[in-house]
Amino acid sequence: MPKNKQATWGGRFATGPAALMLRFSESASFDRRLAPFDIAGSRAHSAMLAHVGLITPKERDAIHAGLDAILLEIERGEFAWDERLEDVHMNIEHALTMRVPSAAKMHTARSRNDQVATDMRLFFKHACSVLAAKVAGAQRALLAAAQRSEGVLIPGYTHLQRAQPVPAAHHLLAWLEMLERDRSRFQEVGGKANECPLGSGALAGTTLPIDREFTAKQLGFVDARGRARVTQNSMDAVADRDLFAEFALACALFGVHFSRIAEDLILWSSTEFKFVALPDEFCTGSSLMPQKKNPDSCELLRGKSARLQGNLHTLLTLMKGLPLTYNRDLQEDKVPVFDSFDQASICADVLEATVAGMAFNPGRCAAASSDPALLATDLADYLVAKGVPFREAHHVVGAVVALAERKGCPIPELATSELRRLHPRFGPDWAKVFDLKRALAMRKGTGMPGPVQLARQFARWKKTLA
Ligand code: ARG
Repeated sequence: MPKNKQATWGGRFATGPAALMLRFSESASFDRRLAPFDIAGSRAHSAMLAHVGLITPKERDAIHAGLDAILLEIERGEFAWDERLEDVHMNIEHALTMRVPSAAKMHTARSRNDQVATDMRLFFKHACSVLAAKVAGAQRALLAAAQRSEGVLIPGYTHLQRAQPVPAAHHLLAWLEMLERDRSRFQEVGGKANECPLGSGALAGTTLPIDREFTAKQLGFVDARGRARVTQNSMDAVADRDLFAEFALACALFGVHFSRIAEDLILWSSTEFKFVALPDEFCTGSSLMPQKKNPDSCELLRGKSARLQGNLHTLLTLMKGLPLTYNRDLQEDKVPVFDSFDQASICADVLEATVAGMAFNPGRCAAASSDPALLATDLADYLVAKGVPFREAHHVVGAVVALAERKGCPIPELATSELRRLHPRFGPDWAKVFDLKRALAMRKGTGMPGPVQLARQFARWKKTLA
């Protein structure tokens, strides 16, 4: 045993690291969660070493058995992690070497640099498929809420001012579209992770006759036809952290989306709106004011999205200006990535549960969406259909709105003669424009909130999310 516990690199050192340095530089406290991926990588690497004859099949089998035993110990929480061994890689290698002498050959033609790059690519493949599935869960809850909201109309808003009436389901399906982009973004990032860096060594590969494609196949880094996918430049492979930023961006944009959804829900559940009631299980009370019911799950979703943006920023700043190739700075890349994964995961779950328990208040929604002024644009369209240029129609309907306001009555209660004075093209049928059902039925084009389109979107989502 060398003078310090750094068995893997201690040879040229007179003394081991200071206790302060060990505490400062260890990553085992947070990168231990890579253990399953690290062990999978070591299994594949040692299988390859045996395949090319750098170790014997017997040595490989001993290494594999040792790795399996260590994985089991880790899963049971019985593994003795030692922060003096720096990181997950050295903890596992050290434990293995203690039990299996041939483990001293396991690091042949490998560096922790290509090892950690491989571990993280395996992690990203896993994390992206977990998050894509969780986003789909939230989407399914939204789809169910949209189906439950049948018949409920709400005002759609621009500038947070009531604009035009829409089915509540149309608003919820807008959220579904946002989340669909997140889901496919996670799938894309997971797809980009599908290249194996092992064999890049510290930065310049190895003189030993390894078989990179064999290792890649063992680890599932393959294309649709089963062909190995490996990184193409050993220096880039150990220096590249683009995936980290892309993953963090996918999480941050998901955060932007769920915080916008949360904000809508916070507004809708306020006394001022009262469009929805949020589930008690995801709200909290006030320690002082007994009447309060606060939308805390939504506020936390909004708040946590800030953290996801911060993590992206941290990663971009960490990378900029780093000389090729590996620098120890890069050890700091894991904390923000793991945090983004953990927070995005729990946020997806909370979004799903909050939406699953929300209920529209049909009376309040009807009252808010039935203001005829919300169909003023439809009245302009009415004139357009009669040949009036839109700009002129817009101006005339503005005058109609002003007249109703002056008289203190809803627009449909104005007399036809009053409207005719504003424009001769108003016919006796002008007031039917304010029939809400008819107004929606006329919105037939793709992406519009009419019932025909809504039914089509429901069918599409049911199929997509099945
Ligand atoms: N714990 C290190 C990290 O996460 C592993 C790579 C260490 N490589 C090195 N040359 N010291 O970055």
